[in-house]
Amino acid sequence: MATFERFNFKTIDEIRDKVKKLGVNISFADDLSPLAKPVKIGNVVSPNSIAVLPMEGCDSERDGSPSELVRRRYRRFAAGGAGLLWFEACAVVHEGRANPLQMYLTEKNVGAFEKLLKEVDEEAKKHNGSDHRPVKVLQLTQSGRYSRPDDKPAPIIAQHDPMLDPRVGISPDDPVVTDEYLDALIEKYVKSAKLAREAGFDGVDIKACHRYLVSELLASHTREGRYGGSFENRMRFLLDTIKAVRSEVGDDFIIASRFNVFDAHPYPYGFGVDKEDFWKPDLTEPLALVKLMVENGVNLLSNSAGNPYYRFPQVTRPFDTPTIGGEIPEEHPLESVARLFELTRQIQKAAGNIPVVGNGYSWLRQFLPNAGAANIADGSCTLVGIGRQAFAYPDAPKDMLEKGAMDPKKSCIACSKCTQIMRDHGRTGCVIRDSEVYLPLYNEARNNATKK
Ligand SMILES: Cc1cc2nc3c(=O)[nH]c(=O)nc-3n(C[C@H](O)[C@H](O)[C@H](O)COP(=O)(O)O)c2cc1C
Ligand code: SF4
Repeated sequence: MATFERFNFKTIDEIRDKVKKLGVNISFADDLSPLAKPVKIGNVVSPNSIAVLPMEGCDSERDGSPSELVRRRYRRFAAGGAGLLWFEACAVVHEGRANPLQMYLTEKNVGAFEKLLKEVDEEAKKHNGSDHRPVKVLQLTQSGRYSRPDDKPAPIIAQHDPMLDPRVGISPDDPVVTDEYLDALIEKYVKSAKLAREAGFDGVDIKACHRYLVSELLASHTREGRYGGSFENRMRFLLDTIKAVRSEVGDDFIIASRFNVFDAHPYPYGFGVDKEDFWKPDLTEPLALVKLMVENGVNLLSNSAGNPYYRFPQVTRPFDTPTIGGEIPEEHPLESVARLFELTRQIQKAAGNIPVVGNGYSWLRQFLPNAGAANIADGSCTLVGIGRQAFAYPDAPKDMLEKGAMDPKKSCIACSKCTQIMRDHGRTGCVIRDSEVYLPLYNEARNNATKK
């Protein structure tokens, strides 16, 4: 691992040189045309190969319906021209909300989501041409050990974990979630998927990343019963949910999964890790899972990694500055980016024709289109996903496609302030490039957190 450094590249040749010195596998293409390629996802077509990744704002209404801030965020994403809009984490049950303002789709508020999607389509057309229609997928979640539905921790765990339990106040004799709860939860996903279709989404994502409940189940080696222990048991919840949703929604609806392929967390508590060295990915099980998901009719995948709440958040999102009190990583951010790219490369290879959305691009700033185009061109992913960059610079896709370049002055600077707002239980967005709206919200959340 090389010494940590902040981003300090003015030209593409400078970043190419650094990549060469570090010996990491990141390429930068001069030809950006791969980004413009339409992509078939299930029975719909994304007008280009750029995706906005799910980015939670923690800012819905109390009943889970889109607030004005949510509507503003998605109008901005839609105007920005990405072909795929992957909507943020939306709870399937109240007790699984990560915060009291997490999106939550119910029979009562489905009309508000329908209205949001109409606005999104109109905005997309207005700014990108009358035939531009983004694919819209909603991420469905149960936040598990990170549930905070009523503004205080209310963890629901799949297995005990000596490293993670103390961080959310779990003691060794607290119960783990029962098999009966999980059986019934599958039906909640089915219900949410049907509501999502009614609202006008093109598909849903059965979220299994970042160590929320379904992600933790993939790693539940120490759990007893039908959902823990063997590979078959640990994959059961995710696969049974995919099958149950598919049998209800038919073939004309996208089923996606954003799933962790490498937890960077010690065995027997981590998924996709070498048993002796948790810093080494072992993709044997994640690749077998990809095969099973594809056999069961999944139309779209996005791999992620790490646990953003734990010690090594650079595994999920490479950064320049950690959140307050966070550690400086013992690796160069380009190594963190290269790890995410390599994981996507392996998952795309296993997924064959099923599109995989890559991630970890935002740290690359204005050079991200070049890295994305190179990855699409050599088959390392099908779509390039942008997370923080979409908060900071929602028009980035349009600039990549129309101007062939991103403006470094508008770019995300990987400062972790949007994550800091989340940790402080505030409403989040880009504090740097959208400061009129989010600097006051950052200060408000900081003040509240400091008082507590
Ligand atoms: C504030 C914030 C909110 C996020 N919300 C979600 C989410 O709702 N669902 C999800 O799968 N990932 C979420 N992520 C992770 C991003 O989608 C993405 O994987 C990560 O930021 C790396 O991509 P980037 O380098 O383009 O930012 C979030 C990240 C941040 C910083
Ligand atoms: S606050 Fe803005 S600039 Fe900082 S990491 Fe978040 S999106 Fe990027």
